[in-house]
Formats: sequence, structure tokens, C-alpha cells
Amino acid sequence: MANKDLVQRDLKVVWHPFTQMKTARPPIPIVKGKGALVFDEDGKAYIDAIASWWLNTHGHGHPYIAEKIYQQALAIEHIIFADFTHHPAVELVERLLEKINGNQARAFFSDNGSTSIEVALKMCFQHWHNLDQPKTKIIAFENAYHGDTFGAMSVGARSAFSAPFAPFLFDVEFIEPPLPGNEQLAIDQMKKALESDDVAGFIYEPLIQGAGGMLMHDPKVLDTLIGLCKAKNVLCIADEVMVGFGRTGKFFGSHWMENQADIMCFSKGLTGGAMALAITTCTDQVFQAFYSSDKWKTLFHGHSFTGNPIACAAALASMDLFDRPETATSLLRIEKQHLEFKEKIKDHPLVTNLRHQGVILAFELQNEGDNSYFSSIRDEIWHFFIDRQIILRPLGNTIYINPPYCITETELNQVYQVIEDLLKHLQLR
Ligand SMILES: Cc1ncc(COP(=O)(O)O)c(C=O)c1O
Repeated sequence: MANKDLVQRDLKVVWHPFTQMKTARPPIPIVKGKGALVFDEDGKAYIDAIASWWLNTHGHGHPYIAEKIYQQALAIEHIIFADFTHHPAVELVERLLEKINGNQARAFFSDNGSTSIEVALKMCFQHWHNLDQPKTKIIAFENAYHGDTFGAMSVGARSAFSAPFAPFLFDVEFIEPPLPGNEQLAIDQMKKALESDDVAGFIYEPLIQGAGGMLMHDPKVLDTLIGLCKAKNVLCIADEVMVGFGRTGKFFGSHWMENQADIMCFSKGLTGGAMALAITTCTDQVFQAFYSSDKWKTLFHGHSFTGNPIACAAALASMDLFDRPETATSLLRIEKQHLEFKEKIKDHPLVTNLRHQGVILAFELQNEGDNSYFSSIRDEIWHFFIDRQIILRPLGNTIYINPPYCITETELNQVYQVIEDLLKHLQLR
């Protein structure tokens, strides 16, 4: 009853993301989370098989993260981050740089994936501007998604999401991503794009294009593409927002490649999914283009909540949990379960392009007709899963699992079972 009341109140005043408010089903009110489960007011449990938009790593309502957040809120909840600093921010940057274990030397805070991309793009363009070699072009992949702010939309594939804003997006050189069968085409297109001397940067999602449909790349070819950019002095921007913090089976997607990015973007799993926080890191070489007694060379960017101490404390707590051996064990166990499930459904007539990388398993549902985000098949799949208390939000006809790492063996088997039930249901009609 109370649930119903909350839904009615929500429907009167709230505007939900990526939601056509007129046609969408009413939202499901959630009051509690534990591990991979979230509960409504009546105690009904849902398995969060997509980690609440790929954020959650160690589980919902994690007592260790909650305690650290609480302690930090009592100590200092927020302090302006220009002219001031604090322990959680500095310690977090030190630990993040240690985890990256490569060429990154400086970290700039913001609040979410999109803003981490805006910062990266500004760093990239202004780096060249400060060196008196202004360059205007970014190379990005077709199917890319880097967020919803204007810079992030500009470097993302043009789609229904960005169509109303097309006149306001800057021009980008889109090349084919190195999907299976497309490797040489991607290399050829990159070489062609690099013939211009006006290329400032190349942005990519290391190994998996998330919102583009969980499209997986061969690390060797991506490495070659990054290498081609490096040879031309083009700044490489790794968008680790989705793939970072274990999703691909290594701590960062970039760890699959030899060639390392000049700029890296982190969010989502940075705080274990508990608080809004993002970081953009860069090499010392990029930083040096800004480090000057000339104030015009300053990176003039910042947000009210830059470096929020509570969010940093959550991120530090998440780092502690990553250092516990059980997290690595869970990652391996999820991958093993995925492999077994793949074997089980690989010959199913409705399953195409079955693939997995780390904790992510994806396939396309064989379906004649519209397979877009707006298709009826997408809605049908979503409703089938949610009616069975499994949160598996498809991308068009792409069904994927990307769970919190604490999901139990039994819970993951329940997710597989519901996918098999869907396949049976669709086959029978
Ligand atoms: C690869 C990638 N980059 C950037 C973003 C944008 O992040 P946010 O939604 O936090 O703005 C996303 C979001 O899904 C993403 O998957």
C-alpha cells in the first residue's frame, strides 16, 4: 500500500532518466539492498544482474563502505577543493595511481562518468592550445558511448539519444571499432584519419563498448591502434568508466594492452558504486603543458562537489575490499560460471554472437525486425525479466549480464535460468 502511494507521488513530480514518462511502466520502489539483492517495501527481492548501471562492485548496503561513509561524514563532509585538500582525496589518488601502475601521474576530480570525459577532452584540447599547437580533431569509434554532456555526446556515436542536439556537437572523425572481422578495416581507417595533422586525441572504451551493445574487441588490435596514435603524438584517452575496476577480468581494461593511454577516465566502480565520484588522470607530460607561471594555462574546470571527502572515503573503502582475496576469487568464479553457461546455450537457435569478457556475458537475441532501444522486443525482454525479479535491462536485442562481484553462485544460476526460460518462451510462440 505504502509502495503504491510512493509510486503515485513519484509519477506526479519525478522525471526519470532515459525514460519516456508517458509509456513506461511505473517505477519499482526500492527500500533496501544487500549483496546482489535489492528489496521493495514488501520485502520482494530482485537480483541486480547489471550492478545498477554497471556501478556496484561489492554489493548493495555494504556495511564496511557504509561505516567509512558515516565516519567521514562526521569528520568533514565537504570542503572546497581549490586552495584546500584532505586525507581521503590524496590517499585515493595515491592508491589509484598505484593500481594503474603505469604512466599516469596526476588526478583531477569530478562527479560522474560524463564529467570525467569533459575533463579529459578539455585536458586534451588545452594541452595542444597551451603548447601553441592548437588541434581540433578527435578520433572516436562508431558505436561509442561516453556520456550525455555535450562534449561526451560529441565523441559518442550519433544516435536517437543525441539527435536533437546534433547542431551543437563538434565534429569527430569516427572510425570502425576492431570488432571480430573488422580488424584490418579499423587499422586502415585509423591510418587514414591520422594523415591529418589536426588530430588532438583518440578516445576509446578499452576492450568493451558498453552502451553500444557490450561489443568486445581484440586487445591486440586495439593496442595496434593506440600504438599508431602514439607514433603520431596523438593523445590517447582511455574511458575506463564502465570497464574499470575488474569488469574485464583485469583491474583496468587498459591493462590488456601494452600501449598505455595519456589520459584515463574513471567513475562508476570507483566508489564500489556507493557514491557519485569520478577521476580523470593524465601523464606528467600532459600535466606539464598546464604547469606554468602563465595563469592563462590553468585548467579552468571544477564542480562544487569536486573531490568530495565522503565520496573519496567510499572509494577508499572500495579499494580495501578490492584488496581482499575473496574479491579476486569471486571474479574468477563468475567467469567460470559464464563459461559453463556459454557452453550450455551456444547452439540455441535464438542465441547469436555469444561472447564474454571478465564478468560480462552478452549475446544478441535472434529476432527479425526492429532491434533498437525503442523496439517492442526490447520492452518484452525487459518485462519478462523484471516480472521474474531479475534486473537485466537489455540494450535493444542485446541481453547481457554485468553483476556485482558478490553475486552468489546460486543467484547467478537463477539469472541464467531466467534467460533460458525467456529463450524457451520465445521459441514456443
Ligand atoms: C564508457 C562510459 N563512459 C561514460 C559514461 C557516462 O557516465 P555517467 O552516466 O556517470 O555520466 C558511461 C555510462 O554508462 C559509460 O559507459
